[in-house]
Amino acid sequence: MTRNISNALEYSNKWLDLIKDPSLPDQDTAKWIIDESKNNFAEHFNRNWLEYRKSVTEAGQWAAVEWTGKGAKFQDVMGREYIDFLGGYGMMSHGWANDEIIEAVKSQLMRTPMPSQELIDPLRGVLAKLLSDITPGNLTYSWFAASGTEAIEAAIKIAKLYTGKSAFIAGVKAFHGKTMGSLSLLGKADYRQPLGTLYGGQVFHVPFGDADAVEKQLEICEKVGIGVAGVIFEPIQGEAGAIVPPDDFWPRVRAITRKYNTLLIADEVQTGLGRTGKLWGVDHWNVEPDILAVAKALGGGVMPVSAVCTTEEIFRPMMYPNPFMHTTTTGGGALACSAAIASINVTLKYDLPRQTAEKGDYIMEKLLGFKEQYSNIYKDVTGKGLLIGQHFTTPEIGYKVASSLFKRGVVVAGTLTSAQTVRIEPPLVITYEEIDEGLNRLNDALSEVAKSI
Ligand SMILES: Cc1ncc(COP(=O)(O)O)c(C=O)c1O
Repeated sequence: MTRNISNALEYSNKWLDLIKDPSLPDQDTAKWIIDESKNNFAEHFNRNWLEYRKSVTEAGQWAAVEWTGKGAKFQDVMGREYIDFLGGYGMMSHGWANDEIIEAVKSQLMRTPMPSQELIDPLRGVLAKLLSDITPGNLTYSWFAASGTEAIEAAIKIAKLYTGKSAFIAGVKAFHGKTMGSLSLLGKADYRQPLGTLYGGQVFHVPFGDADAVEKQLEICEKVGIGVAGVIFEPIQGEAGAIVPPDDFWPRVRAITRKYNTLLIADEVQTGLGRTGKLWGVDHWNVEPDILAVAKALGGGVMPVSAVCTTEEIFRPMMYPNPFMHTTTTGGGALACSAAIASINVTLKYDLPRQTAEKGDYIMEKLLGFKEQYSNIYKDVTGKGLLIGQHFTTPEIGYKVASSLFKRGVVVAGTLTSAQTVRIEPPLVITYEEIDEGLNRLNDALSEVAKSI
């Protein structure tokens, strides 16, 4: 394709006009937007992605183009409304376009969206202090970026710098992100195998929830002289399908990591800020990790922002002798920090963790009823709070349920390391009315799928 500067100018002008127009486009414009979006994805972004999604593919609606949303509902460009049972993979905890978060970000946007990099940027400090106040234990220092995977990369680096060791232990089916370091910790072949060699140090995977296996691996590493910098788990495995470990897992892993002098890293990228019905996933077991990573909901569904939090002692090599040991130019800028400050404020002010625990119990009870009623298609229902996995007997049934729901205006999706799982992960601010409506439609979808097999 040849360069076409005048086309780029004309095309971006047209889209900027659409972006600036707050109203829903008329039907002709909407159709044009759908065609353009479809073509742009197919020709310039990712053709296969268009056709691969669980919910929309079978429903034959893979050209649905989202346009605007509020709370737990959003609209496509044709004005069709959807109940959001997916919450942007856990990023939309505070709902679509949360007023208080938008207001904070807008105000900061008008003042200054990005820092000079040389003077003190006040909001970075505020966010670090707030995280120090609300994280478990003594995690007084934070480093900021935009995505979850960057927070995990930073956690890997901090653990290596502090311990002087290189190996890590992680869980089978774990999900920690897809850049090379975090991908090494991820526990599913599909994403690792095509890349061959990943992180230079060793990574050992053990079954999630098996504290004996963690201990055995640490014992072996000690015997053969492999230094383990850290042991990393999600408190509740998200992409594996909302898998809750046995109750003694986290407390035992905490004790074992102390015994073997290695760091315990909690990946709270998905579970953090109330998603599982407690402020942090590790709060279910009163465990204080050495390093905690958070992202997704931290940006309030408005800005990408992530953080890795740790103790002063462990953070020291990030400050001395070289405070530029680990940096990113755009990560943790003022706009991102304003969103995170507002998202923490909203989480605490409305006690979203408590609300989430109650809504989660309510949904779980109904889903367990569906599991009994449609026992020919359900294998299990797992999770805590509003991180719920419905495990069907085959991936195909999962697809059918997701697409049947999509046809009924409810959006769900699969999980990245478990093919037959369909998650329910709505914004934490979803109302009981919306939950009931979504569950009624789920009942209809399940009935349709159960009859069809
Ligand atoms: C537990 C966990 N860690 C890390 C990540 C990676 O985050 P991101 O997609 O923002 O890079 C995810 C994303 O799903 C996650 O669930």
